[in-house]
Amino acid sequence: MSILPVPDTAIIVVAAGSGTRLDAGAPKAFVGIDARPILRHALDGVFAARPAQVIVVAPAGHEGDAETELRAAAGERADLGRVVTGGLTRQQSVAAGLAALWGDVTTVLVHDAARALTPPALIDAVADAVTGDAGVIPALPVVDTLKRIDGGAVTGAVDRSELAAAQTPQGFPRALLESAYAEALASGSEYTDDAALFAAAGHPVRRIDGSERGFKITTPADLERARQLLAPARVGVPIPRVGIGTDVHAFGGEGTLWLAGLEWPGEHPLSGHSDGDAVAHAIVDALLGAAGLGDIGEHFGTAHPEYAGAHAEVFLARTRELLAEAGFTIGNVSAQFQANRPRFSARRAEAERVLSAALGGAPVSVTATTTDGLGFPGRGEGVSVTAVAIVIPAT
Ligand code: CTP
Ligand code: MG
Repeated sequence: MSILPVPDTAIIVVAAGSGTRLDAGAPKAFVGIDARPILRHALDGVFAARPAQVIVVAPAGHEGDAETELRAAAGERADLGRVVTGGLTRQQSVAAGLAALWGDVTTVLVHDAARALTPPALIDAVADAVTGDAGVIPALPVVDTLKRIDGGAVTGAVDRSELAAAQTPQGFPRALLESAYAEALASGSEYTDDAALFAAAGHPVRRIDGSERGFKITTPADLERARQLLAPARVGVPIPRVGIGTDVHAFGGEGTLWLAGLEWPGEHPLSGHSDGDAVAHAIVDALLGAAGLGDIGEHFGTAHPEYAGAHAEVFLARTRELLAEAGFTIGNVSAQFQANRPRFSARRAEAERVLSAALGGAPVSVTATTTDGLGFPGRGEGVSVTAVAIVIPAT
């Protein structure tokens, strides 16, 4: 036997609109904000408020989808929920919801599913504020300066202190709301919201403070706003850091060329401390720069004779160690060298593999270009390299 008291409040969640202005290819209630649709978010809010009968008014043909969202949101309160079919106008949809009220209900809240992020506390506050003879709406002050217009002409000012922007849920004593709906039906009048219909029947409506989160998802920009509000908090997510490095070496000296981690038999060598691999050196500076750990001269310069003649792997592996000690992970590296020779494309993949392996597997890409005969690379005097790197600090 159930021991739950039957609630004296009902919330009619109108979700039967087509969402013409949102234009998302589905009835608005079933458009996803994140992994969950608008209706689900609205119902999550409704079921986080105090227990009430919940009537979801669904678009014709989508009752089953609405039922799925209702069950998912209701959890243990599934017995309190039901789905009915909506009408052609919002007013008809509310009327369909009213027809499904339980006998014990004395207070009725009408809520737009499209106000998907309405805080549960606002729902409770509206329910609390309803009295036996008056309706309640949440409303926000109007912030824009308002003008009266006639076509393209501004014909007057409107004092915004006399105005407020109405939201939902709107709460009413049940008997008066039902009779007001009956009157509207009899007269064939359509009202823009329930408070207007209720007031037209001669009943007072009071206002409580609305909520910024109670905005209605009407246009694509509103949907984007809802998505932003639901995006996971970025607190604690590390911000990647970027670094840049350049290096230039002249051709000269004895031996073979070392460039981009590879030996190039038959090509003129580059002169310089170590093997003159300007690609590797630019990458080292990009990584150290991104991490704020100084530069290549400081860690590998002539004061460090152990690196004389060393190849790219040694430099890069040590750089990776320095970064790891400082708490940085390497995101990726991209380098480009300017030179007439060597012809690079046939060995690009090989070079990228070697450099990436030296950096613990972080992606490394290397591109090569000539300079149309201009400058020292164009005259074949040397190689110029630019590299950029992304590193990610520990949280
Ligand atoms: N609504 C309804 N039945 C209708 C029309 C609207 O239940 N025949 C509901 C909508 O689902 C929405 C709320 O009333 O939750 C507010 O309406 P609105 O924002 O205008 O939604 P739509 O009518 O769907 O949108 P549009 O006017 O852009 O087509
Ligand atoms: Mg509409």
